[in-house]
Amino acid sequence: MERSFKNDLAFAKKLDQQDELHKYREAFYLQPGEIYMDGNSLGLASKAAVIELEAMIERWKKEGVRAWNDLYLYGEKLGKMMSPLINALPDEVVVTGSTTSNIHSALATFYQPTNERYKILVDDLNFPTDRYAVDSIVTLKGYQVSDAVKVAKSPDGEFIDEQAMIEAMTEDVALVLLPAVLYRSAQLIDMKRLAKAAHERGIIIGFDLCHAIGAVEIDFQAIQPDFAVWCTYKYLNGGLGSTAGLYINKQHFGHTPGLAGWFGNRNTTQFQLKQTFEHQEDASGWQSGSPAIFSMATLEGSLKIFEEVGMKKIRAVSLEKTAYLMYLIDEKLTHYGYSYGNKREDSVRGGHVCLQHQEAYRIAAALRDLGVIPDFREPNVIRLAPIALYTSYEEIYQVVEVLAKIIQEKNYEKYSAIRSAVV
Ligand SMILES: Cc1ncc(COP(=O)(O)O)c(C=O)c1O
Repeated sequence: MERSFKNDLAFAKKLDQQDELHKYREAFYLQPGEIYMDGNSLGLASKAAVIELEAMIERWKKEGVRAWNDLYLYGEKLGKMMSPLINALPDEVVVTGSTTSNIHSALATFYQPTNERYKILVDDLNFPTDRYAVDSIVTLKGYQVSDAVKVAKSPDGEFIDEQAMIEAMTEDVALVLLPAVLYRSAQLIDMKRLAKAAHERGIIIGFDLCHAIGAVEIDFQAIQPDFAVWCTYKYLNGGLGSTAGLYINKQHFGHTPGLAGWFGNRNTTQFQLKQTFEHQEDASGWQSGSPAIFSMATLEGSLKIFEEVGMKKIRAVSLEKTAYLMYLIDEKLTHYGYSYGNKREDSVRGGHVCLQHQEAYRIAAALRDLGVIPDFREPNVIRLAPIALYTSYEEIYQVVEVLAKIIQEKNYEKYSAIRSAVV
């Protein structure tokens, strides 16, 4: 999409005045003197999240065990609230576990290898936890990782080649697990195309939506994947380690969950505590143990904002803000050795900008000391996420000014290039 921006501060301020979502900045805890650009890693706390958490603590104080009377269905309740974000049916989504435990749960359910079809197809750019889970399930089933895990290599180390991925869907592949948006290059995968190709070949397909949900519009009624997983602490602002999401296509409600537990038992008989598992035949049947209510209450607050604004608007504003950042990088930063490693077209990029520089690690350190919170990914990437709900155009403008200053004044040279444990 063609946009016309100008590269001065007055223009940034004008864009803020025109930004329909600008008022939502007040809904979040923005810190004075700080520009938060890391919502792709951990979203900011919202006032609504804190209100819901405090209300839940009050319930615990007043109701004790009686709070479970309705909260045993909290995973379903939040799943329903979240389903519009991916245009799924309300009972196809449950809030439970972590992304990683949900991958294990989905693989334990859907990976049913036979002599002919026993491979899991993955890419080599996904966040590593997905790969660790895939390797562990094939090992548990008695296969060699080198044989049963088929890796479709990226041709350039930055983007997935979708056509090559489809060609790798051979007759020995049982299941494909792919990211929806790549965590480094922000590539937005054509999930519909890949799901169609997988299904035409009799292959189960699942997606990791961690970097997509809350940033891009997703239409699972059209895509029809078999399963999907995601975290809720990035664009969904659920808080540190907030409970994750799991989508199970309704066609599979009859499948017995691979990792059953009593919270996946039919609601009507769960508290009869029978020794035989009776599967609740919707996504909530994939829960295992007691829900982490406090790690979900924050999410309830945050989801109310998403309900109010809707993903269409959030995606439109996110695209504008990321496009503005890319424009400013082009205008003001390329001659300092910066480039960006994401695609330019709206249809193939997610919610963050992948800024590259050979000194990225030390520049990220300098940014933090200058009041800009980015994150760094090896070897040369600074991820910057202008968040639709709480990043202003003026802040984006200032971030670019600071990035220029760090090179002009060479103040990144003060920092060590030796990596710390958490970046
Ligand atoms: C694509 C992707 N999957 C999974 C995770 C993390 O998994 P979990 O939520 O279980 O910690 C991340 C974390 O950034 C991620 O980017």
